[in-house]
Amino acid sequence: MLILGIETSCDETSAAIVSDRREILSNVLLTQLDQHIVCGGVVPEVAARSHLDQLDSVIRHALKEADITLDKIDAVAATGGPGLIGGVIVGVTTAKTIALAKNIPFIAVNHLAGHALTARLTHDIVFPYLLLLVSGGHCQLMIVQSPLDYDILGETMDDAAGEAFDKTAKLLGVPYPGGPQIEKLAKQGDPLKFQFPRPLFHKKEPEFSCSFSFSGLKTAVRQTIEKLGDLTEKTRADCAASFQYAVGEILANRTLNAMKKCQERNINLTHFVVAGGVAANEYLRQLLEKTAMSQNMKFVAPPLNLCTDNAAMIAWGGIEKMRLNQIDSLSFVPRPRWPL
Ligand code: KG4
Ligand code: ZN
Repeated sequence: MLILGIETSCDETSAAIVSDRREILSNVLLTQLDQHIVCGGVVPEVAARSHLDQLDSVIRHALKEADITLDKIDAVAATGGPGLIGGVIVGVTTAKTIALAKNIPFIAVNHLAGHALTARLTHDIVFPYLLLLVSGGHCQLMIVQSPLDYDILGETMDDAAGEAFDKTAKLLGVPYPGGPQIEKLAKQGDPLKFQFPRPLFHKKEPEFSCSFSFSGLKTAVRQTIEKLGDLTEKTRADCAASFQYAVGEILANRTLNAMKKCQERNINLTHFVVAGGVAANEYLRQLLEKTAMSQNMKFVAPPLNLCTDNAAMIAWGGIEKMRLNQIDSLSFVPRPRWPL
């Protein structure tokens, strides 16, 4: 079975062909970075128009790279939300049109489920598994029970982890998108130079043990930068390294709490998976791998290009849903919000 996947929920226009035997035949991605960089972030209207302009040719490229025609596709899956609604509408409408014209099933995939299930495309993992989902819009710890069932253990009370990276980058004068740039800058810095806070660490109530908060961290970075005045290359690198170090401690501590919570409840999980754009960060991957090892869990992270937004994860999410006979009707309404 071959599935065409479409991802248009943010600033990447992407189309992919994936088989139910876990082969990625193509995964074409057109970033709108140059269009958003001038504004320092994604402009929804610009993003939607760009998806509309580019999606047809991105799909054509994906078919060409896979060396097939549309007639060989068995189903079409598109991100149905959550995301910037203009872009989601473009992807969903295109997918529905192809499904109607070719008389094949249409599947609306939850973007977060796409991230959450990617590890099953690249690795042999069975349900249930522990997942840390860290992206530009989300930061959640959960037990993935099935493609349709996610037990949320904790989530962010304010900003997402990726958002914290992007905002810190802006404060340091690093161009959008901040995550990869901060990671690069941090390599030259001293992670112990500045003591940034670990929000929520003082709260001992069990209901907060797997929760996240990043807004206090961002404020502390801003205040430090304001106090420093003119930043040298060295202080910028030290700020980036100290920030990344704090994020690492937050993610690792909350993950450890989640692992312990599962053990206390006698939930036996063998795999810990990290997914989403922030999971592309090598430093954080290594830290989280150590956390998993400390609890005798196997650590799994998708390859870097499958951590950030891409259509292969949506095609795979479609395959997972199809296996459970979860086909969507052509009257599916795109969703700006769609919690797991
Ligand atoms: O999953 P994703 O591509 O899009 C969303 O669904 O949000 O995640 C994008 C986020 C951005 O905030 C970006 O700065 C962050 O992931 N990111 C990183 C890295 N690469 C991307 N954060 C830290 N280190 C990275 N290497
Ligand atoms: Zn994403």
